[in-house]
Amino acid sequence: MKVVEELRMNGGTGDNSYAKNSPFQRKGILMAKSITEKAITSLYTSLNNPKSISIADLGCSSGPNTLLAVSNLVKAVDNHRKKLRRLHSPEFQIYLNDLPTNDFNTIFRSLPDFRTEMGDGFGLCFFNGVPGSFYDRLFPADSLHFVHASYSLHWLSQVPKGIEDNKLNICLTSASPPNVTKAYYDQFDRDFSTFLKHRSEELMKGGRMVLNFFGRKDENPDYDILLELLGVTLKELVEEGFVEEEKLISFNVPIYTPSPAELKSLVEKDGSFIIDCLEDSQIHWTGSESESESGDDNNIGNTNDGAYVARCMRAVFEPLLVSHFGEGIIEEVFRRYRNMVAADFKSLMAVDTYIIVSALIKK
Ligand SMILES: C[S@@+](CC[C@H](N)C(=O)[O-])C[C@H]1O[C@@H](n2cnc3c(N)ncnc32)[C@H](O)[C@@H]1O
Repeated sequence: MKVVEELRMNGGTGDNSYAKNSPFQRKGILMAKSITEKAITSLYTSLNNPKSISIADLGCSSGPNTLLAVSNLVKAVDNHRKKLRRLHSPEFQIYLNDLPTNDFNTIFRSLPDFRTEMGDGFGLCFFNGVPGSFYDRLFPADSLHFVHASYSLHWLSQVPKGIEDNKLNICLTSASPPNVTKAYYDQFDRDFSTFLKHRSEELMKGGRMVLNFFGRKDENPDYDILLELLGVTLKELVEEGFVEEEKLISFNVPIYTPSPAELKSLVEKDGSFIIDCLEDSQIHWTGSESESESGDDNNIGNTNDGAYVARCMRAVFEPLLVSHFGEGIIEEVFRRYRNMVAADFKSLMAVDTYIIVSALIKK
């Protein structure tokens, strides 16, 4: 699997789009809001009335979450500007990054509405699309003030090598042997270290990063039960002869959910950043996690059933599944998946899921 070519969220604004089916990730942005605001306002204070601030959102995808993250940052700066009694709003250079096949057009089409919703009174925002992998250099040296990434860094740059023993599992599961777990961790170690190295070159001294991870609380293995269940659906299709066994054995999802301790040790090993904050919080698929949440859950209706979870998982995993297995099985995969989740909905939703929020300062 070539992650750079095959990974993307479902584009557009239709029923299966990421734009319509990402309330879970939206909660992550909202849960990290106070830490994000603290980071950008401290930066703004330290900059001594800057004319412009350059902000990059890495792994921005497309849809309301992309501009939610940006608008929170711009509003936080402006509120703080008023508190500091500074007269002029800074202008904002906003860089929206994702892999090249991301649906950047949907983001750009929504910009006029975004500007209307934001209203006047803020500094001008200049938007730039930056297609490319955040595991490569994306920006000139010393050019960024602030980097934000939410729910994107658990995606690895490639499927780890040497994980044939994972057999029919599509991700790390309780049945994965230790060498497979190690291969996943080693890939994360290499990728996150590369990420830190590039960002340390691109951020100015004193620049900030807020990185939200789909992670785990401690060193105990914590498996993504909903992803594992998608693998169970695919296994059923193998057993019934709709999918070749070899095809499933060669499919592994390049996702690793790190613990705070793993993140801390990699940031310290890199040595370019001070850890200002590193917190884990439980996050739930259903219900509201934040007072500031609008409650509309991206307008996708009832968020309390298997269909909701299946739509959200489809918005994320459909393109990867299509490129490996072809289009033919998709409806059937998600029909079965929806029923499987619905059958066990309460206990699946009770499984602990964590978001790790880190705020880093460039030395
Ligand atoms: C689950 S979405 C999160 C989107 C958005 N930040 C949010 O919170 O809703 C993860 C995004 O990260 C992007 N991504 C994954 N690996 C990437 C990489 N190496 N470089 C750039 N973007 C990447 C994916 O394409 C996807 O759009």
